[in-house]
Amino acid sequence: MKKVYLDSAATTQMRNEVIEEMTKVMQNSFGNPSSTHGYGRTSKSLIENARKDIAKLFKVKPAEIIFTSGGTEADNLILNSAVRDLGVKRIISSEIEHHAVLHTIEELAEKYDIKVEYVKLNAQGFVDYVHLEELIKNSTEKTLVSLMHVNNEIGNILDVQKVGELCQENQVLFHSDTVQSIGHYEMDFSQLPIDFAAVSAHKFHGPKGIGFAIIKENSGMRPLIFGGAQERGMRAGTESVHNIVGMQKALKLAYENLKEETQYIKELKAYFIEQLKSNIEGVKFNGGCENLEKSTYTVLSVNLPIPTEKTPLLLFQLDLKGIACSKGSACQSGSNTGSHVLNAVSNPEDLKHPSVRFSLSRFNTKEDIDYAVKELADFLKELEKRNTVMS
Ligand SMILES: Cc1ncc(COP(=O)(O)O)c(C=O)c1O
Repeated sequence: MKKVYLDSAATTQMRNEVIEEMTKVMQNSFGNPSSTHGYGRTSKSLIENARKDIAKLFKVKPAEIIFTSGGTEADNLILNSAVRDLGVKRIISSEIEHHAVLHTIEELAEKYDIKVEYVKLNAQGFVDYVHLEELIKNSTEKTLVSLMHVNNEIGNILDVQKVGELCQENQVLFHSDTVQSIGHYEMDFSQLPIDFAAVSAHKFHGPKGIGFAIIKENSGMRPLIFGGAQERGMRAGTESVHNIVGMQKALKLAYENLKEETQYIKELKAYFIEQLKSNIEGVKFNGGCENLEKSTYTVLSVNLPIPTEKTPLLLFQLDLKGIACSKGSACQSGSNTGSHVLNAVSNPEDLKHPSVRFSLSRFNTKEDIDYAVKELADFLKELEKRNTVMS
């Protein structure tokens, strides 16, 4: 059966070079990095070499990179510590953040009685910068802004430079979940006014279960996980050496090939939009993802002109045809609350129709897109035919 993977915002296929590098580490460098003998020292030097390389890519100090188990842990570490250790009493965020941020903030609000305010979003789900400025200027207590760089469901891009400058001018801290942007965009943290960022390797063809937090030096933050003295005391637990080296390799390759791959994927996305429009009458795109400049080149969230009750059938059919994508409907199976992102950004009319998120990577081709569009169009035609027969 033909198989087409169009779910790279969920996770990416690893590059072969990354797997090879990790295999070498697992075979040859199994020492515990905390051991003082040669085996341990070899592992330790692999980690510190990765830290140095990664720090260089983003123009931060090696000590500002804290390896974690991924994006969720990095978000948790930053948000928890900001409230617990830095005295943050108020958080400004948005309703379309990833649950790693939203649920952490909810928990913190309950535990520490902090104030949480959500910035308004415009009709396409972009942050209303005027409202954000108002909220930031209105900070009478220690405040943290937590806004993601690239939205994982609709692809909207935040102007992190602008938000960071606003924060800096008003002595407000800025955390950005950069899970969907690091490895996809150049980011120079020596220029970007971002205090804290969260990163995950499996979004850029690296391994799962590894990521890092960028935490500016002398921030006053303390660990979330206690135990050994790993990560300069910021994150206890034996380091996942092969994962760290795999992430280092994945990032190196991502940035070496960034220009060509961005161009290639962006063209695929434009082609996907064009093909959907010419083959499916009434198709719409959620959030700002149709705008190639204001949304990431990897994400396309599609709203289909059929009733939402057909969502399970649609997803079943796509899966049956070997097409992997994500449901992004108003009412997801297994949960009747639906996508919090679409609920926040879509109008009530669009929420009556199913949405599917397709997300692309360097491994996709035009043939993948032709296949997905054809299967979608055939499914819609079949539905129409059945409805005509029944009516
Ligand atoms: C924007 C965003 N933040 C955080 C995460 C969580 O990252 P991880 O899977 O590494 O825990 C994801 C993963 O889907 C994401 O897309």
